[in-house]
Amino acid sequence: MKNKLIYKSNKNLNLIKLITMFYTRRLLAPTTISLSSIGYLQFNPFKNKKTQDKNKTYTEEEVSRHNSPNDAWVTYKNKVYDVTNFLDIHPGGRENLLMAIGGPVDMYWNIYRQHYSDYVSKVMSKYEIGELKDYQKEEFDNEYHNEPVRNNITTTVHKKEPYNAELNVANILDSYITPEKNWFTRNHHPVPDINIEDYRVIINGKLYKYDDITDFKISEITTTIQCAGNRRSELNEIDKTMGLPWKGGAISTGKWRGVWLSDIVEIPKDKKYINLYDYDSKFSVSVPIDQPLFLAFNMNDEVLTRDRGYPLRVIAPGLTGSKNVKWIQEISFSNEEAESPWQTGIAYKIMPNYIKSTADIVPELKEILPTITTLPIQSYICEKEIDEDKKFVTLKGYAMASKDKKILKVEVSDDGGKTWKMSNIYKGKHEKNVWCFWKIRLTYNPETKYICRATDDYGTTQEHTAEQLWNIRGIANNSVCG
Ligand code: HEM
Repeated sequence: MKNKLIYKSNKNLNLIKLITMFYTRRLLAPTTISLSSIGYLQFNPFKNKKTQDKNKTYTEEEVSRHNSPNDAWVTYKNKVYDVTNFLDIHPGGRENLLMAIGGPVDMYWNIYRQHYSDYVSKVMSKYEIGELKDYQKEEFDNEYHNEPVRNNITTTVHKKEPYNAELNVANILDSYITPEKNWFTRNHHPVPDINIEDYRVIINGKLYKYDDITDFKISEITTTIQCAGNRRSELNEIDKTMGLPWKGGAISTGKWRGVWLSDIVEIPKDKKYINLYDYDSKFSVSVPIDQPLFLAFNMNDEVLTRDRGYPLRVIAPGLTGSKNVKWIQEISFSNEEAESPWQTGIAYKIMPNYIKSTADIVPELKEILPTITTLPIQSYICEKEIDEDKKFVTLKGYAMASKDKKILKVEVSDDGGKTWKMSNIYKGKHEKNVWCFWKIRLTYNPETKYICRATDDYGTTQEHTAEQLWNIRGIANNSVCG
């Protein structure tokens, strides 16, 4: 009974820490929280590593004593793990994992259901040290009980909770401006249900109501947003990467109505970053201070839906998907990046390709590698229509240049890249930060493998194979597409 009490109080403490962290971040300047400010950096997680016997059993009280960064245990269901060596390489960030040490991760994973995967089980097995004595299963409230209703049959759902889905490749070209229901969705958490009356956004320390934002000068822009993990599944064919197996449909285009950030506030020249925090600071990223940002309240002439970021989201023209923060709650200017798995952590860092698993990621590498901001030039074959007499084939696809660049040409090869034929760009020619659609008719041979590549107005061409671009996070795959 005593053990249970100690364990429970430790668990409550952790939850309080979680809530306090979000709350503090919301009300104070976000950069006031840093690992060094709370002393975590003084510990060396690789010190004092003990060899453990996997068959040993531990009481909850024993587990609760291993609650410091240089001696960090957690439990999941009835298993005990020593995660001391994993703290610095946890893809969800050191800070998040520190919240759980000395107790169970189960309640956190009820929110971060990304962990219910074979990949995570495999990672965890390396750290298992034994079993929890007298384990009793606990029931948690369903954090995903209030998700939007979604019923699009043309999407592939990679994860229901948090919801992650892409448009089937065959339907991508159905519309140049992607209809709302066809948009790819990349959620990291339950979708917030925000009451417009209560909604506030903090910009450079000042609170704005929704109506305050819509009172500024209204503008309209069209942008394409692409997830950094688009086409990850092709990298998985080389070797398993970390993350959802997106095909080529984690990309969509919207027409946005909203207000430029620079029409609301003067952007300081003496700061390095614009830091963006979503609802309750669950997700945060940074963009360079000179990046124009747009705050959108409408998409495709309709009020944003909850999956698209209702009531207000950031549009960062030309930047990778994660920088287009949904449900924006705070925008601040800082010389420090936002502290989060998606900015200072490994989520969007292109690791060198000798890193084959999370365990290979040394903390120093994480420190020196910046997070990607924009994605490289991209093109993709979506449709292959063979004529009835099987003499000709028409290939169709999309292409997208990197930030502020334009696609000049998209070419297709039917001889493994020795020679290339130019396609016809039939929609979105010479646009910036928006995709274009292309097509080409070629003689058909069932044995032929057709590949495509795009070139931009700076002369940059796609030239790598998936093998050359492979990285453990499976991001920024712009290999010549076949
Ligand atoms: C033994 C404990 C843990 C292990 C082994 C672990 C492992 C992992 C792994 C492998 C990923 C990457 C998943 C992917 O990209 O497919 C991940 C992501 C993540 N983890 Fe953990 N984790 C642990 C504990 C926690 C805890 C306690 C929290 C929160 C309090 C947490 C929060 C996160 C978050 C926020 C992400 C990023 C999810 C996203 O990008 O959508 N993790 N974790």
